[in-house]
Amino acid sequence: MSEKSGWVNPLRDPLDRRLPRIAGPSGLVIFGVTGDLSRKKLMPAVYDLASRGLLPPGFSLVGFARRDWADEDFAQVVHDAVREHARTPFREEVWLQLAKGMRFIPGDFSDDEAFGKLKATVEELDKAQGTGGNFAFYLSVPPKFFPTVVQQLKAHSLSKAPSGSWRRAVIEKPFGHDLASAEELNRVVHEVFAPDEVFRIDHYLGKETVQNILALRFANTLFEPIWNRSYVDHVQITMAEDIGIGGRAGYYDGIGAARDVIQNHLLQLLALTAMEEPASFDAVNLVTEKLKVFKAVRLPDDLGRFTVRAQYTAGWQGGGKAVGYLQEEGIDSHSRTDTYAAVKLEIDNRRWAGVPFYLRTGKRLGRRVTEIAVVFQRAPHSPFDSMATEELGHNALVIRVQPDEGVTMRFGSKVPGTSMELRDVTMDFAYGQSFTESSPEAYERLILDVLLGDANLFPRTEEVEESWRILDPIEEFWESSGRPAQYPAGTWGPKEADEMLARDGRSWRRP
Ligand code: BG6
Repeated sequence: MSEKSGWVNPLRDPLDRRLPRIAGPSGLVIFGVTGDLSRKKLMPAVYDLASRGLLPPGFSLVGFARRDWADEDFAQVVHDAVREHARTPFREEVWLQLAKGMRFIPGDFSDDEAFGKLKATVEELDKAQGTGGNFAFYLSVPPKFFPTVVQQLKAHSLSKAPSGSWRRAVIEKPFGHDLASAEELNRVVHEVFAPDEVFRIDHYLGKETVQNILALRFANTLFEPIWNRSYVDHVQITMAEDIGIGGRAGYYDGIGAARDVIQNHLLQLLALTAMEEPASFDAVNLVTEKLKVFKAVRLPDDLGRFTVRAQYTAGWQGGGKAVGYLQEEGIDSHSRTDTYAAVKLEIDNRRWAGVPFYLRTGKRLGRRVTEIAVVFQRAPHSPFDSMATEELGHNALVIRVQPDEGVTMRFGSKVPGTSMELRDVTMDFAYGQSFTESSPEAYERLILDVLLGDANLFPRTEEVEESWRILDPIEEFWESSGRPAQYPAGTWGPKEADEMLARDGRSWRRP
């Protein structure tokens, strides 16, 4: 094929999106480096990026925490975290290269001397490692520390980029616990960093399968014509976890399932499933379309009948006994925190009017699975005998976010034999079978995007605020409505959630 026919030689096109995107000179400063997230996700992701050749040779990693560590101690902590949690095999040469750029600053967030030292370290790294003044500050700390940390960065002239370089703030959830607190956090952060310098992490957007929702919908002709109220009966978005709250009592109690994952991960999945095609695949256009969805979301009039919150009680899981939520270490025995939440939402626009979106999530459920099931209406007319179609369910397209990443299509088919009998069958796409490469971890993708300044996969201020606007009335209603329902650990949630769908003549899928 010639270039005249529209084919562009990728070797000649520097903007070819298929070529690996490699970060330029830069460094990452992590606040809260002793936390779980940092050890299990951030440090391994940095190593995996280095191992894949996607970081610049002088990449630098600075840890900041209240520990009496020297640089070597910090490097050892990173080393152990990488050995235990990295996705790619450990290679000594990659490690040695990475370790050259590791520094540690002991101190707490109000410690001016420590921030002075951070400033000096950043300048030292610019000289020794060639980081070029480009630094991202990752706030892997509880939100109550955001104001102090960003103000300290400002006070020590770390937030302002020297000319020709960049400075960025990366912020982990929870981003507030309601609209008012989210607005306040946004105000505090934007006092110091401009909107395009702030990268809010919703790690679900870094998952390959989540990005594939847009590929599936907008790169094909097959699905989009039926992706609307004329064909779709309802949508179920499930994020089920088999784990309990582990050692996270301090964070989780008082927050609960809805604030922990519906406000962010599940509403993002809903937006990607429901949004219109963006004018282009860039941050501004993506946000524009997602925001339209959030603004069109309508809560049920009767929150008592169409939302459910519950807590797990003792039960069995994975062959072992599991204690109830109220017996978990560090949990107040009168806590009303939800470990399970289910809500029915509608989207008031031309595409979706009248199509319910059921969202549910929970800890200590039957198994770990996240999926989006688009359930289609039954055929308007069936020429088959009603006995022949007795076993037939609804057609469904299921996007399996995790595990067993892929897409399943369910439809009716004739059972072999002399009679006409129809039954549901499935057609499957599995990432593991269709591609040889394994999927990068969400944090690899997101950290790389921060270093590249690519904001597509990061929720903007308005999205965060709109999603709290959706959740706040539900939380307020729950606050005033007695104790949560209950479900035994290891089951698929409370009976109240089944009753909620039964009221609409539907039932939850058993993934
Ligand atoms: C986090 C929540 O955002 O997502 C956790 O705070 C939850 O409670 C986790 O366990 C689940 O992430 P993943 O990627 O394992 O589905």
